[in-house]
Amino acid sequence: MLGVYFSGTGNTKHCVETFVELCEKGCAAVSIEDEDVLAQIAANDTLVLGYPVYFSNIPKIVRGFIAENGACFKDKQVFIIATMGLFSGDGCGCAARPLEKLGAKILGGLHLKMPDCIGDEKALKRTPHDNRALIIYAQKKIAGAVQQLKAGNPPKEGLGVLYRLAGIFGQRLWTLLYMRRAAAYKIKPRLDTQKCTGCGLCARLCPMKNIIMEANRAAFMNRCTLCYRCFARCPQKALTILGKRVHEQCLFEKYHYE
Ligand SMILES: Cc1cc2nc3c(=O)[nH]c(=O)nc-3n(C[C@H](O)[C@H](O)[C@H](O)COP(=O)(O)O)c2cc1C
Repeated sequence: MLGVYFSGTGNTKHCVETFVELCEKGCAAVSIEDEDVLAQIAANDTLVLGYPVYFSNIPKIVRGFIAENGACFKDKQVFIIATMGLFSGDGCGCAARPLEKLGAKILGGLHLKMPDCIGDEKALKRTPHDNRALIIYAQKKIAGAVQQLKAGNPPKEGLGVLYRLAGIFGQRLWTLLYMRRAAAYKIKPRLDTQKCTGCGLCARLCPMKNIIMEANRAAFMNRCTLCYRCFARCPQKALTILGKRVHEQCLFEKYHYE
């Protein structure tokens, strides 16, 4: 078994790592950004694929990874984990459908509510205490799902027609109507040039290599995948993406404390 994930701000990484470790002690989990991810996938028959839900859908970066590397999923058994801030409808189904077409067998799906990573929209913010409670609940849910998988009765969240209808009418339709530019990934992060010190951290972290340093300032191309990693890690809080103000830089490790 191998965990494979994309994670902008750490939620999904944690969930996949926890899931595979409970399945098989010492089991590895790799990011789709890792250089040897394809070799690792090739060496394993069973995958636990995790990603955050964006606009009730699979993130563009994960969709691209699946499309570009379709052959490596043939004949794999795949359990899917979708993390989300609130609701997704068919979060797991959004990857299950293309994977099945590529010849993968979908074992099951798990939806996990985690801290919302969009830290520049005040309406989405919870207290650190509430975010911590979400993580604790998700961990219990993961443990239950692993037991179900081991018993041959894995959860099937997000898979099937009713979930799909919930995804379309619960959100994707409204996103298309009211957030078309964002859902089409036509947004560029905005930089507060007064705050940016040109440290280059955002450029080093960006999974899409969408940020370059020009005259000691971050500059953006058109490949933003909206993962919020640059936003969450900027030491100067100089970046915004969907909203206009930095309310909170949301990172999994901020809420995962003893
Ligand atoms: C662009 C964007 C769109 C999002 N859309 C949704 C959504 O439709 N439903 C939802 O419940 N959460 C949504 N979220 C929240 C994330 O799915 C959630 O915070 C996720 O756990 C982040 O995972 P990560 O830390 O692994 O990146 C969205 C986040 C981003 C950045």
